[in-house]
Amino acid sequence: MSSKPSQLKRQLPVWGLYIIGFIPAIWGFYLGATDQMGTDPVKAFEHYLGFWAIRFLLLTLVITPLRELFRINLIRYRRALGLLTFWYVLFHFIVYLTLDQALRMPEIISDITKRPFIIFGMLALILLIPLALTSFNWAIRKLRKNWKRLHGLVYTVAILGMIHMIMGTKVLSAEQMLYVALFVLLLGYRAVVWLKRRTA
Ligand code: HEM
Repeated sequence: MSSKPSQLKRQLPVWGLYIIGFIPAIWGFYLGATDQMGTDPVKAFEHYLGFWAIRFLLLTLVITPLRELFRINLIRYRRALGLLTFWYVLFHFIVYLTLDQALRMPEIISDITKRPFIIFGMLALILLIPLALTSFNWAIRKLRKNWKRLHGLVYTVAILGMIHMIMGTKVLSAEQMLYVALFVLLLGYRAVVWLKRRTA
């Protein structure tokens, strides 16, 4: 293990990451509440939270390759990053339900069952729930090998989240293209590791 990670370990406790991680949500809420989010603040806030979910998901997935390829061990932050992903998806969903759809159930049910891009997002959220619920030490101990298997679902969540983002937009921005490229790279890396282990 190199000295850099241990320095970081001293500098940033995990609870500090949670505090930093929730700042974008509070900031976004403040911008929306003070009318600084453009002409369509609801959509802007909804997108803003969705993009932060994607960023935290990317950060969660980058932890393992960083350790395996560059010996940078940030594993102690992985759980917090995964949970932050879950919270941002949940906030994104709550904004959709309340501010976007004003809790109109017929529209929401029709969206969730008929609009493909919403279905992909919804599936990603549903899969994130067992991951969030079993992210605590007792669950890790109880589930043992199955815990790893279950948490492998994060890659499916990533694929569903990416499809949702791509389908939810007409033209991909440079930022979105970067996220897609990073996801492909991270998933590709995972696939290579998996294939190597199977053929070894
Ligand atoms: C892992 C789960 C999810 C991720 C990562 C995610 C991410 C995103 C992102 C990045 C956008 C912006 C796309 C753009 O550029 O226009 C977006 C838009 C949106 N998402 Fe999600 N989302 C997720 C789940 C959901 C769920 C569960 C719902 C609701 C059931 C939802 C509803 C929407 C809606 C309504 C939009 C706006 C589309 C529009 O412009 O009309 N998302 N999402």
